[in-house]
Amino acid sequence: MTGLPDLRVQIAPRHPKGLILSNPVMIASGVAGYGTEYTEIADIHKLGGLVCKGTTLRPRSGNAQPRLVETFGGLLNSVGLENIGVEALIREKAPLWARWCVPVIVNIAGETVDEYVAVADKLEGVPGVSGIELNISCPNVSAGGIEFGVVPELAARVTSAVKAATSLPVIVKLSPNVTDIKSIAIAVEQAGADAISLINTLRGMAIDIERRKPQLGNIVGGLSGHAIKPVAVYMVFEVSKAVQVPVIGCGGIASAEDALEFIMAGATAVQVGTANLTNPGVCIAILKGIEHYMLEKGLRNISQLIGAAH
Ligand SMILES: Cc1cc2nc3c(=O)[nH]c(=O)nc-3n(C[C@H](O)[C@H](O)[C@H](O)COP(=O)(O)O)c2cc1C
Repeated sequence: MTGLPDLRVQIAPRHPKGLILSNPVMIASGVAGYGTEYTEIADIHKLGGLVCKGTTLRPRSGNAQPRLVETFGGLLNSVGLENIGVEALIREKAPLWARWCVPVIVNIAGETVDEYVAVADKLEGVPGVSGIELNISCPNVSAGGIEFGVVPELAARVTSAVKAATSLPVIVKLSPNVTDIKSIAIAVEQAGADAISLINTLRGMAIDIERRKPQLGNIVGGLSGHAIKPVAVYMVFEVSKAVQVPVIGCGGIASAEDALEFIMAGATAVQVGTANLTNPGVCIAILKGIEHYMLEKGLRNISQLIGAAH
């Protein structure tokens, strides 16, 4: 076969403007901040996309330390959405992104529907912002502190409210801490989501047996990394069969083989999180590995692999 395979993917086909990535490898929210330091260690422009740290209406200082604990094959974090707030993001980060060729998607969070809408509204028309990812694993204070992402009606309500407030493509990021992920996925698709990303972290904790106390300052955290990969592959498989919109797979990806599993399970693109913390070059290596696999198998277009295991 001559020439490189075509790795371009469309992650928002229902959206009037669409959102085409040059390849399916993205950096997940929370592990590369706003991407500005990443440019010093790896070639960000080779990536399909970057999702920035979860952003709220006002700056947040996050949870008590310690916030990170390594576990067997994984990482527990309880960062608690520390971020600079949407206004500083627009002032200080977006102008840099506007000069990049890699699309930047802003991950947004809030405690009420109105807060999500206010953040989306402020991002409207900001150069450098290519899309919104809704993190619905946050407490809905007005409904008594439960997460938006665990009740289909609440997930749909926040999705349709944000869709009405923005002309940007909206990706809804699902929490795995649910009994029926498909019902949440179908609810957000019907509410207008342009794509669905999954999974966010699995709730977990660890105990320090010398102090006889929880290791995390926040007691409970979110588990990420290699340990969660089979759960994530399963959820991507199930959700991608249940919805028409593209699914973006995430959870424990650390190699091209891992990424290919997600793509064959039905993911149109993948996000890499925790693996970046130990190897900042991992996304580029994954991209090269996918290309190598396709050349070796004589595949010309990444679409030949999406959902191949269905
Ligand atoms: C330190 C840390 C911070 C994170 N912050 C966010 C965040 O702000 N918003 C979000 O939607 N997900 C956040 N995540 C979740 C990741 O984006 C990803 O969904 C999850 O870690 C699973 O992927 P991984 O196993 O490749 O890390 C964070 C994860 C880690 C490890």
